[in-house]
Amino acid sequence: MTDFSRLLAERTGSMKASEIRELLKYASVPGVISFAGGLPNPESFPVGGLKKITDKILTEKGTKALQYGTTEGIPELREAIAKRMSELKGFDAKMENITIMSGSQQALDLLGKLYMEPGKVAIVEGPTYLAALGAFRPYGGEIVGVRMDEDGLDTNLLEETMKKLKAEGKVVPFIYTIPTFQNPSGVTMSEERRKHLLEIAAEHDVIVVEDDPYGELRYAGKELPNLKAMDKDGRVVYFGTVSKILAPGLRTGWIIGDEEIIGKFVIAKQAADLCTNTLSQHIIAEAFSSGMVDAHIPEIRKLYSRKRNLMLDMLEDSMPEGVTWTKPEGGMFLWVWVPESINTKEMFPTALEKKVAYVIGEAFYPDRSVKNAMRLNFTYSSDEEIKDGVKRLADTIRDYL
Ligand SMILES: Cc1ncc(COP(=O)(O)O)c(C=O)c1O
Repeated sequence: MTDFSRLLAERTGSMKASEIRELLKYASVPGVISFAGGLPNPESFPVGGLKKITDKILTEKGTKALQYGTTEGIPELREAIAKRMSELKGFDAKMENITIMSGSQQALDLLGKLYMEPGKVAIVEGPTYLAALGAFRPYGGEIVGVRMDEDGLDTNLLEETMKKLKAEGKVVPFIYTIPTFQNPSGVTMSEERRKHLLEIAAEHDVIVVEDDPYGELRYAGKELPNLKAMDKDGRVVYFGTVSKILAPGLRTGWIIGDEEIIGKFVIAKQAADLCTNTLSQHIIAEAFSSGMVDAHIPEIRKLYSRKRNLMLDMLEDSMPEGVTWTKPEGGMFLWVWVPESINTKEMFPTALEKKVAYVIGEAFYPDRSVKNAMRLNFTYSSDEEIKDGVKRLADTIRDYL
């Protein structure tokens, strides 16, 4: 049999089926309680409301909603997003600053396509969103992770890193951050750090990408200004999505930014998929403008807040000494630190024997330098599973120690 892999483009060398995916296969074995997934809870999907809206759209403008749309997205949705983002977050955005994406994952891929190439360095948080690493890698260049602490990205370290890279003659096109209820850590960047980050970005004249899929899922603490709302010179590009406030199956997100930057994304998107699913866009435009989304979000917050509290209580009750964890004020994930003597990848088979799964921490660092951490999702499992699963995890760690 011919080996067709010899015909692949060189850049595909970085597109390896990740070992994480392999590990996660075991997580779906029956009987295993998995905190490894990143899925919203299906109970949070407003099926009835979306059914009514879909029926209305197909009745009132069926042919329009089933036709191709412009690459920028349908005007009704872009306007609804401009209005909502300015009311909710104080963004000074007009329709011209907004383009609809097939999920924010597409925006991440296009970001890599537009700005990465050999010789360039993307700055991300360490740890960062796994699929952002996967999106950037094929386009070449380096990815440098700047460590975080309980106040988010360590901006003093960022400053040092930027200076060092500049001295080495490296070009940094963008800093990618998930400042609010980060995936994977659950941490939120403090207001001072947000200011500092923007100062550093201005000094080095680079783009800041604010990925914000979880911002509306706050269960505790006070609201902080978005980087985009603090942006004075148009260098912040904001990524939003309906995946966590409505449903990920709609595959719809948006980017907001300076018209010139957005224009480049539009050209790149045109080649990728011409336009985002038009039917989804009409449904979402109606869901926003009718107030359905705003009425629904408190339901999601109520469900997830209960699950977060339960997981935090269970961790408190069952974890052995030396184990610490973040206490997210929102979002879907929390981060667990185990003693340094434990490598969570090596411990994974023991966890599976105890019928519990997590995502190993090292996967979220571009250089895989951290071994003693794991990500837990608290939104998907049932309450019973959270109770039993955290106990099993605590037993795993205790046995392993
Ligand atoms: C930080 C972050 N960015 C982007 C995405 C992708 O979201 P979407 O469903 O909008 O493509 C996710 C999904 O989990 C995420 O956690």
